Amino acid sequence: MEKGIVDYNPLFNGVEIGIGTWAWGDRMYWGYGKDYADAEVHQAFISCIENGITFFDTAEVYGQGRSEQFLGNFIAQSNKKIIIASKFMPFPWRLTRNSFKKALKNSLDRLKVARIDLYQLHMPLPPVRIEKWMEYMAEAKADGLIDAVGVSNLSYSQMQRAFDTLAKEGVRLASNQVEYSLINREIEKNGVLKACQEMGIVCIAYSPIGMGVLSGKYSAQNLLPGMRASRFSKNDLIRLKPLIDLLKKIGADHGGKSASQVAINWTRAKGTLPIPGVKNIQQAEQNTDVISWQLSDDEVIRLDEISDRVAK
Ligand SMILES: NC(=O)c1ccc[n+]([C@@H]2O[C@H](COP(=O)([O-])OP(=O)(O)OC[C@H]3O[C@@H](n4cnc5c(N)ncnc54)[C@H](OP(=O)(O)O)[C@@H]3O)[C@@H](O)[C@H]2O)c1
Repeated sequence: MEKGIVDYNPLFNGVEIGIGTWAWGDRMYWGYGKDYADAEVHQAFISCIENGITFFDTAEVYGQGRSEQFLGNFIAQSNKKIIIASKFMPFPWRLTRNSFKKALKNSLDRLKVARIDLYQLHMPLPPVRIEKWMEYMAEAKADGLIDAVGVSNLSYSQMQRAFDTLAKEGVRLASNQVEYSLINREIEKNGVLKACQEMGIVCIAYSPIGMGVLSGKYSAQNLLPGMRASRFSKNDLIRLKPLIDLLKKIGADHGGKSASQVAINWTRAKGTLPIPGVKNIQQAEQNTDVISWQLSDDEVIRLDEISDRVAK
């Protein structure tokens, strides 16, 4: 496809947000089994589909396969057509076409499907080049095992390489999944967001609530639990307070919306497809409701300004 033409993959037609499922079964980072477990995650899934969500993001590494298993079981029990996005992790010991095929087969088995709608390269990791993985992706698509090919955590030049390799095989790169939120606006500076929009690649925004930081429930007095504490210090939370206060204020101005909802809608206003994580029904209800309203241009500008000042 020529550059400069926005023509997104039909897979994303009508998809305004998706839901991320990293926390489903992940004990180490998210504390699965402490304040939420199987029942909460299942209720969250049901709430999401009742509220119109059709797109779920998972990965073979989330909860060491548990996230894919949950999603597979839940989808098998529901009668809704769900778009599944999963990811292949190019571990340094995975070197061959066979290792790619085996990982894909295991994901298909855990998800209980014959085909994954969007299969993404999780991140660029040596020693195998991105081009090789894209060739295997194109083969998997030709074999009918995946429908669309995506990448994740790729820079502008890496994304271009993936795009060009796939194009040679007659396949269009569908998406690049990257971190994007009011506390991480790197893709606005490194060219990824603009290139995605020009090249017709859907920019999937992960961690749109800043891993919970932008929900407004954490503060200098209530630090983030578990491993997230090492990423966000007390000083970070003090520095980010003016931004969190503005998120709350804008949410209140919209008739009682939450800071999380405002944070998610800011990423939508920037033309990305956010995939917020949810651990329970309350979070699912809130995060899926964002498609019923939007931020004004002025609110987006005010959020941009304050994030420029307080986010690193
Ligand atoms: N490709 C990649 O490398 C990559 C990396 C990271 C994430 N992802 C994907 O992106 C998805 C989302 O990112 P994320 O889970 O890292 O971060 P996120 O969406 O920014 O934050 C999710 C967390 O925020 C809290 N939360 C969510 N909704 C809330 C609400 N309405 N009110 C209050 N708290 C709320 C929950 O944690 P607490 O309740 O514990 O605070 C939840 O687990 C992941 O599930 C995954 O699918 C991809």
